[in-house]
Amino acid sequence: MASPVPELAVAARCAERPVDGWARASFAYGLLDVDFVGRSAPDDDLAPSANRFRLDPDLAAVLLDETQPEFLGGQFSFTVGASLDYGSMVDFMRTGRPSPGRTARFHRSVEKLNAQDTALFHEQVLPQLPELEQRLSAGAEVLDVGCGDAGWLLALAGAYPQVRAVGVEFDPEWLLRARDRVRTAGLEDRITVEERDPARLDWEGRFGLVYFQDVLHELTDPAAALRSAWRAIAPGGTLLVFDWCMPSSWEGYRTQQGELLWGYQLDELFQGTSLLTRNGFERRFAEAGLADPQRLELEAGATLFLVRRGE
Ligand SMILES: C[S@@+](CC[C@H](N)C(=O)[O-])C[C@H]1O[C@@H](n2cnc3c(N)ncnc32)[C@H](O)[C@@H]1O
Repeated sequence: MASPVPELAVAARCAERPVDGWARASFAYGLLDVDFVGRSAPDDDLAPSANRFRLDPDLAAVLLDETQPEFLGGQFSFTVGASLDYGSMVDFMRTGRPSPGRTARFHRSVEKLNAQDTALFHEQVLPQLPELEQRLSAGAEVLDVGCGDAGWLLALAGAYPQVRAVGVEFDPEWLLRARDRVRTAGLEDRITVEERDPARLDWEGRFGLVYFQDVLHELTDPAAALRSAWRAIAPGGTLLVFDWCMPSSWEGYRTQQGELLWGYQLDELFQGTSLLTRNGFERRFAEAGLADPQRLELEAGATLFLVRRGE
């Protein structure tokens, strides 16, 4: 489908002139194609024209479809959303004191970023864990530690109608957002969201799956959180940690993955947290007194650490 600029501007509730500039810039970057109307080449006064711009449907899915593991739109949202908090970056660089807090806008951009990981969980994690898949289909009870906006919980409840789940969150912005989304989805009878410290979950042997998605590396005491999560797992249940691991070699830095992750790591350092290497994660499991986790490397580049509790 090709749309002329005036139509795009109305759909986006924006003005024509900036939309025209944005469309030309997107063409320059190879994101949009153009069907010229009237003239066969760019006009030299750069005024809005009747040209029709096209976005390839596959690229549209990559940029916009949050349900697909190929979704990369969140990377753009995050890069822009996070950088709008960087007014105090100079201060951080000078003093080493992390930024005191993040904005609601930052939270929204993280939600977009993490949507890809939720899609990856369904597309690349579960197919490797048929036993867990069966337990979910049979209605296992699930705990999501640091559930953010409840995106993962809602997707899980949608895919497994028998599942009942609890989300734990400590950030007030995300607590409100998660509860609101669960209410709007009409799933309050299956998903509850509680304010709790991950290091003091206070459940004993209750859950068939305890899950951490992009959370463990942010916690002040990850070993305590793992210990507490382990206690909450029912016999036969599974502890899963999904995260993105920093490369542990200089050669690894100079890869596309290394480049991407160092970009995120600068933001983590700015807010006083840090991504971990694979060894760093494994050390947290050892500190928690847990068995060495099984490690699954996902095609997308993320890593999964897994420990099963005996029956
Ligand atoms: C990147 S978000 C991931 C959210 C969610 N798991 C997802 O995948 O959408 C990181 C999560 O870690 C939580 N978190 C960060 N620091 C924490 C702390 N010190 N104690 C408890 N939770 C924390 C945040 O509140 C947030 O829910």
